[in-house]
Amino acid sequence: MKNRHLWLYFLFMSGSVLIGTVPILLQAAETPTASMLANSCAGCHGTNGSSVGPASPTIAGISNDYFIETMQAYKKGTRPATIMTRIAKGYTDEEIKLMAGFFSKQKFIRYEQNFDPAKARAGKKLHKKYCDKCHEDAGRSAEDDAGILAGQWAPYLRYSMDDFNSGNREMEKKMKKKMDILKKKEGDEGVEQLIHFYSSQK
Ligand code: HEC
Ligand code: HEC
Repeated sequence: MKNRHLWLYFLFMSGSVLIGTVPILLQAAETPTASMLANSCAGCHGTNGSSVGPASPTIAGISNDYFIETMQAYKKGTRPATIMTRIAKGYTDEEIKLMAGFFSKQKFIRYEQNFDPAKARAGKKLHKKYCDKCHEDAGRSAEDDAGILAGQWAPYLRYSMDDFNSGNREMEKKMKKKMDILKKKEGDEGVEQLIHFYSSQK
């Protein structure tokens, strides 16, 4: 009699352990952590978001809001992209928020790039005059939710400038105003000098 009860007791205990484990396993499958999500971006954007370039931009250290707005714009298709529109569609709003928290806390690592020193010097002046108001600290600041320009990969910057200037990607009104004056006064060469300035920064 006694032994039979003991057996039932063990059956009951192991059963409840099993039942208790299932929700934990399910939960783990349902809500991946931010760093697990970020791992799926590393193939292109580098470990913790600092791309070893040059085809994908570095996304480490960009602001929380800029990250969310960007991913939502890709998801809706309002910001043009070669692949990000497809990738962004695979993530829920909650997952995007989690990743924003993760990437905005990472350090933007700047890798050495080729640049023309004379163009970079000219670009530095143009930046001060036309762009530093919102892209503060020579384009290093993530404030104003405007992305980080200093040390960003040149091919990506060139591609972004083309998208802006062709009207494919919408520019904030005040930025467009400055960009239009820059283009009028300095032409495409001015835009190129700015790119050399940003890619010269370490
Ligand atoms: C197959 C390569 C690839 C993968 C994987 C990838 N990206 Fe991208 N990402 C790009 C490229 C290339 C761009 C530039 C836009 C474009 O052409 O799609 C970009 C642009 C971005 C930008 C805009 C950066 C800026 O400064 O405005 C963000 C944010 C971003 N990706 C986030 C992510 C996140 C988050 C993941 C993982 C969930 C991810 N990407 C996965 C290649 C990739
Ligand atoms: C009035 C503020 C303002 C000024 C002035 C301004 N920008 Fe911007 N810039 C922004 C904002 C805000 C964004 C983010 C826009 C978005 O993607 O929706 C941005 C985004 C960018 C991006 C894209 C960053 C990325 O990661 O994709 C580039 C490149 C850029 N600006 C270059 C410039 C240059 C060059 C100048 C000077 C000619 C300039 N901006 C002047 C506000 C400004």
